[in-house]
Parts: sequence; C-alpha cells; structure tokens
Amino acid sequence: MEDRFGHRISYLRVSITDRCNERCQYCMPLEEQEWLDREDILTYEEILRVIRVGTSLGIRKVRITGGEPLTRRNVTWFFEELQKIEAITDTGISTNGTLLARPTREGPSYAEKLSAAGVRTVNVSLDTLDRKQYAETTGRDLLPDAIAGIDAAREAGFEKIKINSVLMRHRNEHELWDLIEFARERDLLLRFIELMPVSTTQVLTEENFLPSGEARKLIEFRLGKLIPRPDIRTNGPASYFEIPKTGQIIGFIGAMTNLHFCETCNKLRLTCEGKLRPCLGSHLEFDMREVLRNPEMSDEDIAKFFLHVVDRKPEMHEFRDNYQPGRKMIAIGG
Ligand code: 5AD
Ligand code: SF4
Repeated sequence: MEDRFGHRISYLRVSITDRCNERCQYCMPLEEQEWLDREDILTYEEILRVIRVGTSLGIRKVRITGGEPLTRRNVTWFFEELQKIEAITDTGISTNGTLLARPTREGPSYAEKLSAAGVRTVNVSLDTLDRKQYAETTGRDLLPDAIAGIDAAREAGFEKIKINSVLMRHRNEHELWDLIEFARERDLLLRFIELMPVSTTQVLTEENFLPSGEARKLIEFRLGKLIPRPDIRTNGPASYFEIPKTGQIIGFIGAMTNLHFCETCNKLRLTCEGKLRPCLGSHLEFDMREVLRNPEMSDEDIAKFFLHVVDRKPEMHEFRDNYQPGRKMIAIGG
C-alpha cells in the first residue's frame, strides 16, 4: 500500500478500547466519560480480521493502544490470537503501565503474558516521577503502580521498553534530568513528546506547551551538548540524540515544531469503534465497521476499503493549521 506521496504503509495502530483507568488531562477530561456501548466497539474477531486483511496489503507491524488496552476483558487472549497472524513481524503495545505488574486471571502478570504472546515492544507513558504531579496529570494516584509495571516489563524480557513523556511547561520541565536518569538506570529508551491538540481540555494552552527545542536546551544546560544521531531510527517520527558523557540515547517527538515530522509516515490508525484514520492530525476517518458488519462484504471489500483510505492520506498533519480542538496552540505551533 502506497499513498499519493510515496509513503509505504506498513504499520497499523489499533485502539481496542476507549476506556482507561487514568484521566490524563491532555487526553481525557476528568468529568464522567460517556463510554461507547459494547456493541459499538469492534469485537476482537473483527479487529483480527482487519489486521489479517491488512497483512495482505503490506501491514507488518501493529501497535495495540487505547484508552488503556489492558483494561479490556480477555486482552491476553487477543494477543495470543494476534501472534498467530504470521505476516505480522512486530507487535507492540502502548500502555500507562499501571496494570503490567498485576496478575491475570490465569496467574502470571500481564507483562509476562504479553511477553509470552510475542509482544516485542512496550511503550509506557510516564510524564513525571513526582507522585503528586503524577496524580495531578493523570487524575489518579498510581505512580507506584506505573513503576511496578515498568519493573515487571523489564523482568518479562521484552525486546524493547520505551518511556514516553509528554513535555509540559511547569509540570515536568524541571524533571527532564530525573526522567533521563530513571531511564538510564533501567536501560529504557526515553522519548519526550510535544503536547498535541488532540483533546479539548484546558491543559492545551500556550503556557503549557514546551517545544522540544527548548527541552533540548534545558537538558544541555546540565548534561552537555546533545549529539544528533540521525542514524538511529525506530518505526516512528522520533529524532534521537546521544548524551555526551554517558552515551545514553534519548528521543524527541516534535509533532508541532518539526516540519519534517510527517515525511516518513508509514501509519494508519484503527479506532476502537472501527474508524480507519489515515492521520492522527486530521479529522478524516472512514467507517470500516459498516463494511465489517455487512454480510455481503468480503475480505476483498475490506482490502478495497484500506486502499480507498490510503489514497486519501494527507501529506502531513493539520495541527499547525486550522486544527480544532487546540486552536490556542496555533500561535506557537509552527
Ligand atoms: N499530546 C501528546 N501526547 C499525548 N498522548 C496522549 N495525549 C497526548 C497529547 N494530547 C500520549 C500519551 C502516550 C501516547 C500514547 O500518547 O502520553 O504516551
Ligand atoms: Fe489517555 Fe493514556 Fe492517560 Fe489513559 S493513561 S488517560 S489513555 S494518555
């Protein structure tokens, strides 16, 4: 699958639930959520069918996300089934980490079950190491659980564990060094992410936005000039740097300020209610559930649907333009 701009699409990000046991202000508002109804969410079988058809068009990597994916029932069964799709050579999960150390119904922890089911990479969100700040940012006092989850993941033997920290002025601006040290001690790959206008909450304001260039300067102030490492590429849009004295690698995901951000995009997203989205930063979405639940539609129709969506993939996200929500960020975006 190739889009109009020559991006070869090989990566599908799949949200399996809209629910979460946390309430990060930049992702979900604190007030009661209107959860989607059960029947609106794709079943595991439907998701597996989409992925299977995707592989016939070149999808090789999937990352399972949410909400918090580990809050969905029987999630370990889903990962076991996913492992049976041979063309998928790389499976990852994005999680807040708080449930990784918990035992599953069968006994072993979620981390152990995921590792046994062939998950290679785990991305854990961790914006702060300060318990109070964590509770404020996520709406839940679960920092110890998140750290226990990271430790459980380390013991479970994943190929790679990444820590994602969303950069926020006044919130974790003073902790960047601590987060770096935390990652170094545990041999984790830390990436700092610029806040994006993906939700409508009040944290998405100009005074909360910390550009990655500024974060780099803050880090350099203490740790010395960062050495660019353009040779290091993961599957995503992060730029990597080496810390001079220790050789530690850290990444920056500069969705707002990096103008080359979208150039290597290889991704599609499937939302939990079955919308196929060609880009995170565009409102374009196409209802795949309708196709999936139409008994007259075959796998071939699903494949055609994929191609239709890929053909409409924008060249780049619209976060810097006229994007709603997050209008307030326009001024600082470019
Ligand atoms: N801006 C930047 N990153 C965000 N995430 C969630 N919402 C936003 C946002 N508005 C991050 C989470 C997690 C990853 C899946 O996306 O912190 O690390
Ligand atoms: Fe959103 Fe992740 Fe925070 Fe849950 S933990 S509210 S999914 S950013």
